[in-house]
Amino acid sequence: MVNSRVKKIGVLTSGGDAPGMNAAIRAVVRTCIYHGLEVVGIREGYNGLIEGHFTKMGPRSVSNIINLGGTILKSARSEAFRTPEGRKKAFENCQAQGVDALVCIGGDGTFTGAQIFSEEHGVKVIGVPGTIDNDIFGTDFTIGYDTALNTAMEAIDKIRDTATSHSRVFFVEVMGRDAGFIALNSGIATGAVDILIPEQHDSLEEMFDTFKKAQKRGKNSSIVVVAEGEKLGNIYDLAQSTKKEFPSYDIRITVLGHIQRGGSPSCADRVLASRLGYGAVIGLMKGLTNVMAGIRSNQLVYTPIEDAIKKHNEINQDLLQISEILAL
Ligand code: F6P
Repeated sequence: MVNSRVKKIGVLTSGGDAPGMNAAIRAVVRTCIYHGLEVVGIREGYNGLIEGHFTKMGPRSVSNIINLGGTILKSARSEAFRTPEGRKKAFENCQAQGVDALVCIGGDGTFTGAQIFSEEHGVKVIGVPGTIDNDIFGTDFTIGYDTALNTAMEAIDKIRDTATSHSRVFFVEVMGRDAGFIALNSGIATGAVDILIPEQHDSLEEMFDTFKKAQKRGKNSSIVVVAEGEKLGNIYDLAQSTKKEFPSYDIRITVLGHIQRGGSPSCADRVLASRLGYGAVIGLMKGLTNVMAGIRSNQLVYTPIEDAIKKHNEINQDLLQISEILAL
């Protein structure tokens, strides 16, 4: 058995919910119980830490949740935890409850909070990357990304039916905050004529050229996938400029929005979440703190939480080229 230095672990989900967070909670709880550690669930992210919403968890508290979207612990983007007073209250609650380590499931905002809390008060923290955006360094994939990608793909497939039937041009906005992973991959998977992502410097002229080429090759309908963080302009401005340049185009706009965050997690997300939830507890038992558990090249790895926040996974340039070639 691994030498355990922690006795009672708190688990919370914070930031935007992501499909697979429940599978991660389940993995944390059951790995703790298996190794004889106490585990409490903290409600509503860091707000629950401040308000003292701790619930003792056992193996049956996480029954029948592996297939559920959202998070049974609820989530929040806590303003109060940004203040030293809020974090002091949170620490006092941890002390009162005997919680000596936290597993924080979320994205970079969650990890920033965890890092500051740990530095200020010495509570051990370990991050588990849970966000549909896939924008966390130190893991090949984040929990929820695969499900969101498939949701976006299915939605765009449906939009294609109308685009084709009515010979229309559709601009479809997908989530990703400042990252283009969902846009690039869902765009390739749905045969988008153009994909606009913040990591690439696009120009309106290039987009118009793509439309002209598509027209020349006999295409009478098109789908352009736009990342919400696209720097060239928002989807409404892009559609308006396109209408000005091509007055005959019948253009429609669809913003996929939060449907991408919901739904039952895919198999890949459930497995990823199970591995990372397990890995987080094992990491704490080994004495690690201020790190994030991730999977790289199919191996469980731990990355300093600071790197997970500050560094970025690069967009695969091959994918960009492939998307252009295959949109012929
Ligand atoms: O980080 C996940 C995410 O869904 C982003 O893609 C999006 O920009 C943001 O959260 C939306 O946040 P909210 O649900 O708070 O509006």
